[in-house]
Amino acid sequence: MLGFAAPAAKGAFSRETRGMGSLRLERASKDYLSDGSRVPALREVSLEFQTGEFVALVGRSGCGKSTLLNLAGAMDFPTSGSVWIDGVDTSTLNDAALTRIRREKVGFIFQSFQLLPVLSVIENVELPLMLAGRADARAAALERLAWVEMESYANRMPYQLSGGQMQRVAIARALSNSPSILLADEPTGNLDTATSDVILALLRRVADETGTLVMMATHSLEAAGLAGVIVRLRDGCVQEVVAGTKAVPERE
Ligand SMILES: Nc1ncnc2c1ncn2[C@@H]1O[C@H](COP(=O)(O)OP(=O)(O)O)[C@@H](O)[C@H]1O
Ligand SMILES: [Mg+2]
Repeated sequence: MLGFAAPAAKGAFSRETRGMGSLRLERASKDYLSDGSRVPALREVSLEFQTGEFVALVGRSGCGKSTLLNLAGAMDFPTSGSVWIDGVDTSTLNDAALTRIRREKVGFIFQSFQLLPVLSVIENVELPLMLAGRADARAAALERLAWVEMESYANRMPYQLSGGQMQRVAIARALSNSPSILLADEPTGNLDTATSDVILALLRRVADETGTLVMMATHSLEAAGLAGVIVRLRDGCVQEVVAGTKAVPERE
């Protein structure tokens, strides 16, 4: 495994990325209102994870994976129960504190990558650093691109990249402000198997080498197999929590 102190080894994560993530859900339930009727999406979910864990959420479409990720990222709030990010109850935060916790503590990646199409690769990664007031945003963005081995694509536009390359840039962007928690919603859903393996190995390294808590929703059993913990959801309930592999995958 690459050490934190390794001086800019190709694709090595630096110490700066090390998060101190913890996430706790305490009997968290979430109901949506749809056409006047109540849709229970999560029911009394209690889970706790620490820094450096790689968690896979699995279960059928509609079982509540995205809802759980949204609560975990303070993008939404439980109808009852509570969600704690790094020891802070998200429902107690005012708007300014919420903006700060989302920007500083949480990184998100998506199935559809969601890079901004009018910005170059480097600008996509630089933007959250600039919003956080970093004077060295350009240099820091380049460093993050190097972590995912995309620095030589810095001046390309997103449409000039393959899906796997776009997801690597999206990971660099999600890690730009050294979050405690990286949330990934079906991150390999649009990728072929070989490319998915590269992205999953990268996510595993983010957890192992930076201490970021990584939580990924996935349909893929193969993807879940790389996680340290697998949470199986069914109809909004936690059906089981099982230990996955602890092995660090081979680097390509
Ligand atoms: N904004 C919403 N309004 C109403 N119902 C929703 C909304 N978002 C999700 N749901 C419902 O909540 C349940 C869980 O959805 P979701 O968390 O997206 O599941 P998954 O990501 O596992 O496919 C589903 O029944 C879904 O239809
Ligand atoms: Mg979903």
